[in-house]
Amino acid sequence: MPNSLKGRSTSSQQWLIRQLNDPYVKKARYRNYRARSAFKLIEIDEKYRLLRPGMVVLDCGAAPGAFTQVIVEKLQLNEEKSPNANSFVLAVDKDAIHPIPGAHVLPNTDFTKPISQAKIFDILNSRKIDFICSDMAPNATGVKSHDHELIIGLSFCALTFAVMNLQPKTGAFLTKIWDGSRTPELVSQMEKFFESVKSVKPLSSRSDSAESFILGRNFKGIEKLHK
Ligand SMILES: C[S@@+](CC[C@H](N)C(=O)[O-])C[C@H]1O[C@@H](n2cnc3c(N)ncnc32)[C@H](O)[C@@H]1O
Repeated sequence: MPNSLKGRSTSSQQWLIRQLNDPYVKKARYRNYRARSAFKLIEIDEKYRLLRPGMVVLDCGAAPGAFTQVIVEKLQLNEEKSPNANSFVLAVDKDAIHPIPGAHVLPNTDFTKPISQAKIFDILNSRKIDFICSDMAPNATGVKSHDHELIIGLSFCALTFAVMNLQPKTGAFLTKIWDGSRTPELVSQMEKFFESVKSVKPLSSRSDSAESFILGRNFKGIEKLHK
């Protein structure tokens, strides 16, 4: 048995073996991303062309920061000499987030709390948001139906904020879910607010995981809903 596995529990050994054999973990290390999740957003963006310089982006559940790193690159906020002056990315997490050059970070901020959302609103200074992503995930208990309820709650919370703050016509919203009984309800709510709603499972999302993303594009705007 290799030294790195000695003294570990079976589940910890399984996790380590999976990490060591995971090509996305290796790629993330090579490209200096904080987590393999970077490749999920890269894949989704390659397919749907969501991120462009000049955008305002809110990244919910951002720690450790891999999605934010990708967003910073795509918005050209990492150009040392002349970062795109109109681009802005705000990364929020209830846990700590180490500074991410080019991004504005709000660590220790529970997105579900009204006070946190008021702070985000203030920072954005009434600018509408072009893209909101939620990779927020609760600590999984292992009870699938319960974990599904918790993550769907976070998705609905992000969707409610998105409806109030997205740029009409062009705004987009991406949320992670763990599939379960309330997925159709989330999708049908999103269909009220977006011209296009798709379920996306990136190749870099582990095939044995219930994780997928729901993407809404072309936000209809709330005015249109009242007519
Ligand atoms: C899968 S991780 C996100 C990974 C991140 N997108 C990346 O690429 O580095 C899920 C994150 O959601 C955060 N989270 C869960 N509930 C939250 C809440 N209520 N408010 C803010 N962040 C939350 C967790 O603290 C955790 O950091």
